[in-house]
Parts: sequence; C-alpha cells; structure tokens
Amino acid sequence: MLATMESTVPTHVGFIMDGNGRWAKKRGLPRAAGHIEGLKSLKRVIVSCRDHHIPFITLYVFSTENWKRSQQEVGYLMHLLACKLPGEINFFTQEHVRIRVRGDVAGLPEAVRKAIGETEEATKAETGITCCLAINYGGQDEIVRAANKAIASGRRSLSAEDIQGNLDLCDVPPVDMIVRSAGEHRLSNFLLWDSAYAELASYEKLWPDWGEREVEQLCEDYRGRTRKFGGLKG
Ligand code: FPP
Repeated sequence: MLATMESTVPTHVGFIMDGNGRWAKKRGLPRAAGHIEGLKSLKRVIVSCRDHHIPFITLYVFSTENWKRSQQEVGYLMHLLACKLPGEINFFTQEHVRIRVRGDVAGLPEAVRKAIGETEEATKAETGITCCLAINYGGQDEIVRAANKAIASGRRSLSAEDIQGNLDLCDVPPVDMIVRSAGEHRLSNFLLWDSAYAELASYEKLWPDWGEREVEQLCEDYRGRTRKFGGLKG
C-alpha cells in the first residue's frame, strides 16, 4: 500500500518537535524525562517516514535560542546528544538512516561535536532516508552565515543563489512541509530560507506521543494540499 503513495509524498518534511516538557509535567516527571521520551518518538518517526518513502527529513533538536533555558536543561540536552548520537549508531545503520547535521556546530561543546562527527561518518553510506538534525540551529543565523561565506569567497553583492549555495546542507532539497507538534503555530526560526513555499501543519499531540499514525496523517494532509509556488493552480 505504501508504494502507491510514492509519487505524492513530500520529498522533505521538517519537524518542530514540541511538547516534551508538557508531556513530562502532565506525569509529574522532570523535563529530562520528556526529552528521553522525545528521542523514542523521534526514532519511531524516522522509521515511519522511511517506510512512507520520504527521502529527507529535518528534526529541530536544539535552536540558537534554546541556550536561554536553564543551565540544567541545556546541560542535559548536550549530554543526551553526546551520548545518544553515537549510542544509536547501530539503530541508524540497521534502519538505513543517514544522519546529517545542520546548524552552527562550531558553537557546540567538544563532546557533542565529536559525537556528531562520529555519527555522520558511521552513517554516510546509508540510503534508506536522510535525517538532518538541526542542532544549535537558527534560520536567521544560517542565512547570515551563508551570506558571510559568500562574501568571504569574494562576492560583493549577493543573489538568492549565493545564499542558497552557502546554506549548511545546500545539497538537501528545500522543505515541502513543516509540521509542529503540541498544537503550536509558530516557525520559531526554523528553516526560514527553505520554507519559502512550505506547506504548514500543526497537530495537537505532544511530541513524545508521535509515531506511525502521525506520519500517516501528515502524508494524508500533504496529499490534500495544492502547491502553486506563486503561480496559478494548474
Ligand atoms: C521541545 O519541547 C523539545 C526540545 C527543545 C528538545 C528536543 C530534543 C529531543 C527530542 C531529543 C533529541 C535527542 C537526540 C539524541 C537526537 P519543549 O521542551 O519545548 O516542550 P514544552 O514546550 O512542552 O516545554
């Protein structure tokens, strides 16, 4: 059944994973428990997207604004990344998931940079799905860094192609759909350049409760959208 959906699935879906804290609070648990559960749903969503033949996904893991959270929560998220990225390499390779990272990696702690390098290297030959993790990522920051790279390479005035060609993962196609959990309706500085013509969708379910059903729902909702890219309906 999944194969017949192939032509109408999005090429690239962005996920704003929201609601980990609320999930934990509802259960009287620390916020860290919500992030651990959020990692489990992240794995379910990756596998389900792959099974639905979505070739690229980007998950918003840690934004350039998330440093404003308590030292304890930031420290926990960095610890999770440093341990769990390499810790999940077996899962990624068994499920044929290529991991790539988007964001200002230079601004991350050494242990996280090392974990990212190891995980990208160990999964680079996987072709089931490309899973981009946005870490220390901000859409505005990415555009500014891209502009500065173009200027450093000698450009004196910039075109859209100069920005596009200097984005963090400029070979990854633009996002077709951005989905957000926990009923929020904000982009929160996510994929600002790439989202120029993205379809947007918000779902009530908190991120740790996401799985196959939510991926099916977003695919169904995408099929119902008519994309015009600024032109007229065909
Ligand atoms: C947003 O929910 C979630 C985050 C800022 C962190 C997302 C991180 C993960 C799912 C773990 C990823 C781990 C690896 C190893 C890839 P929130 O905390 O803002 O929720 P709230 O709005 O309910 O407080």
